[in-house]
Amino acid sequence: MKIKNICCLGAGYVGGPTMSVIALKCPEIKVTVVDLNKERILAWNDEDLDKLPIYEPGLADVVREARGRNLFFSTEVELAIEAADMIFISVNTPTKTYGEGKGMAADLKFVELCARQIARIAKNDKIIVEKSTLPVRTAETLQTILDHTGNGVKFEVLSNPEFLAEGTAINDLFYADRVLIGGKQTESGQRAIQSLVDIYAHWLSPEQILTTNVWSSELSKLTANAFLAQRISSINALSALCEVTEADVDEVANAIGTDSRIGSKFLKASVGFGGSCFQKDILNLVYLCRYFNLPEVANYWEQIIILNDYQKYRFAKKIITSLFNTVSGKKITFLGWAFKKNTNDTRESAAIYVAEHLIEDGAEIHVYDPKVSETKIKADMRYLWELKGVTDQKIEQKLQQIFVYQTAIEALDLTHAVAVLTEWDEFKTYDWESIYSNMYKPAFVFDGRNILDVKKLTTIGFQIKGIGKG
Ligand code: UDX
Ligand code: UDX
Ligand code: ADP
Repeated sequence: MKIKNICCLGAGYVGGPTMSVIALKCPEIKVTVVDLNKERILAWNDEDLDKLPIYEPGLADVVREARGRNLFFSTEVELAIEAADMIFISVNTPTKTYGEGKGMAADLKFVELCARQIARIAKNDKIIVEKSTLPVRTAETLQTILDHTGNGVKFEVLSNPEFLAEGTAINDLFYADRVLIGGKQTESGQRAIQSLVDIYAHWLSPEQILTTNVWSSELSKLTANAFLAQRISSINALSALCEVTEADVDEVANAIGTDSRIGSKFLKASVGFGGSCFQKDILNLVYLCRYFNLPEVANYWEQIIILNDYQKYRFAKKIITSLFNTVSGKKITFLGWAFKKNTNDTRESAAIYVAEHLIEDGAEIHVYDPKVSETKIKADMRYLWELKGVTDQKIEQKLQQIFVYQTAIEALDLTHAVAVLTEWDEFKTYDWESIYSNMYKPAFVFDGRNILDVKKLTTIGFQIKGIGKG
């Protein structure tokens, strides 16, 4: 079947960039991205491309070319569903914060609502593509809901997990290592797979387009993220060992990375990984293993999260012990709040947890991030405290300990310590001599990303502490 009309439910970090690139590369297909969030859609339609709701290098250029031609952003969900031959589900699937599987399982209520809505509206056969990260066997749930509409419409459900990383989303879409499409082994299942293969074939070669059964595809997504996160937790575990020996974690990473069986990527020790996927997907995997009564397997994967939490806590603790065992009333400047550079996304960012520990010890946190707003930072902290059951009154009090600035200079003025939480390039180019002259002494720098020039800063007079530096 030749696809002429695509609809995507969810105009977020995944749906927005992915559909923009599909529209750019397939000018003969009309692509409509819909969202319940009116403000988000307004921002996607803003004349000023700097106001797009997500920041991704290269995204504005893609939107400029395709928007209004064959790419549309709309809140008219029903119309878009009705018109589409293929519907991508790209809505949020956060970890459950209530009930059965709380804190572990993915909350599928948004996905389920999509399926029910599609089932209600559809008048002709459609291909449904699960794009959101989902637990294994979600496709089955979707199919069950869709097949019980009684209106005779046939649905084929495909799994097409997203592997793009934020901050490099456009590049990852243009030059994907691979795309993965899972579908049923039936004749109609294979036809549906082929329709989606034809879309990606507009810019990827056949070897880059892998097809599998639905379950393998769903499980591969969780596994890919678990493996990637596992590398970070492994190097972070070693960073703790490096700090108490004379070893340097970057040297160790470099030495092992040259073994082609290990490979050099994703071995950068840090204050801990963040982002919307790693933790959520691993928790999901762990939940799945427990569900199938595989406790040893569940515990193995869970250890990645335990180590990551330990790494964030260890960083905060190092700040406290270095500042003579208390940060009460002291000003700590955070450079960066996003979970990594080149994104305005802060979901699960290490900064949130480090801030929490320091605030607990009485610190004032002064934040500068080139892309993250004060509203966002405070909302992140409020969300965490609400989850922990902190009262509203207490939350308001704690929020008084956070200050957010438009420039780094203001955030760094008369501070006790600087903590680098995100690896933004601009931090490397600052005038560290004048920062030093404006700080309390001893002037501490805690480099949670190992991006600063240790020799230079030490010469200036800083006490600099990196991750995994003996
Ligand atoms: C990840 C996967 O990379 C992507 O394939 C999947 O589709 C979604 O999840 P993302 O979360 O956007 O992408 O970013 P990623 O670059 O993987 O970084 C995740 C976290 O790990 C960040 O906090 C980053 O700073 C950290 N990280 C990454 C390290 O600490 N060290 C590394 O070596 C690499
Ligand atoms: C290993 C290291 O590879 C080598 O660099 C080091 O110097 C010594 O230890 P070796 O033990 O000789 O070498 O064999 P290797 O090929 O690494 O295999 C080790 C075990 O892992 C074997 O039992 C092998 O069957 C198993 N293995 C290896 C797997 O089960 N799966 C794999 O994908 C690879
Ligand atoms: P992701 O990182 O997976 O893209 P986001 O939270 O950035 O997640 O985006 C998901 C988007 O999906 C949100 O903008 C949300 O408003 C939207 N959404 C959730 N449910 C629906 C629905 N039933 N129909 C349309 N959009 C939805």
